[in-house]
Amino acid sequence: MLGEVEIREMRVADIEAVMDIEREVFPFPWAPEFFLRELGRGESAMYRVAFADGRLLGFIGANLLGDEIHITNMAVIPDVRRRGLGSALLVGCVRQGLERGARWLTLEVRETNRDAREFYRLFGFRELGLRRGYYCDTGEDAVIMAAGDIREGPFRELLARGEGND
Ligand SMILES: CC(C)(COP(=O)(O)OP(=O)(O)OC[C@H]1O[C@@H](n2cnc3c(N)ncnc32)[C@H](O)[C@@H]1OP(=O)(O)O)[C@@H](O)C(=O)NCCC(=O)NCCS
Repeated sequence: MLGEVEIREMRVADIEAVMDIEREVFPFPWAPEFFLRELGRGESAMYRVAFADGRLLGFIGANLLGDEIHITNMAVIPDVRRRGLGSALLVGCVRQGLERGARWLTLEVRETNRDAREFYRLFGFRELGLRRGYYCDTGEDAVIMAAGDIREGPFRELLARGEGND
């Protein structure tokens, strides 16, 4: 894990820095208005950022839909990947969702995004099928992934160890 990383709720004032990561990481970045709208959803939005030395290193976004956490977006800047930050963001989001009554975890990921699919599999996500032409920018298919009951499986142990605490 990286030292001295602070993970906290995303604020409107963070959007500019989040957009820098969006533009660096994704060929088709979200617009800032998307984040603004999401942050306005109140308790059902779970958007979190990771900082070290005043620098934004990554973020995660999710919506709480009944008892389901739906991950909408996540990214870690390339030069700090494979150091546990993505895991810390994901586990923290799951912890927050559990506290709000969630039980299931789902997401869509681009079929070509093999790295992210591998990352999610590590946490017990299974690939349920495809949403054909889901991404309107390229027409690419989305792989639907779900982690089953988050009170069981890999998250259970990670949460019991205190991971994902602020
Ligand atoms: C997916 C992503 C958030 C992972 O962040 P990260 O900080 O590198 O993740 P972690 O360091 O916590 O990785 C945990 C484990 O996941 C797996 N993993 C992570 N990246 C991987 C990759 N590129 N290839 C294969 N396995 C990978 C590994 O098992 C890794 O453990 P290890 O480094 O000890 O082998 C990051 O690669 C990213 O920002 N990708 C681009 C944006 C993106 O695709 N977002 C998802 C959109 S749905």
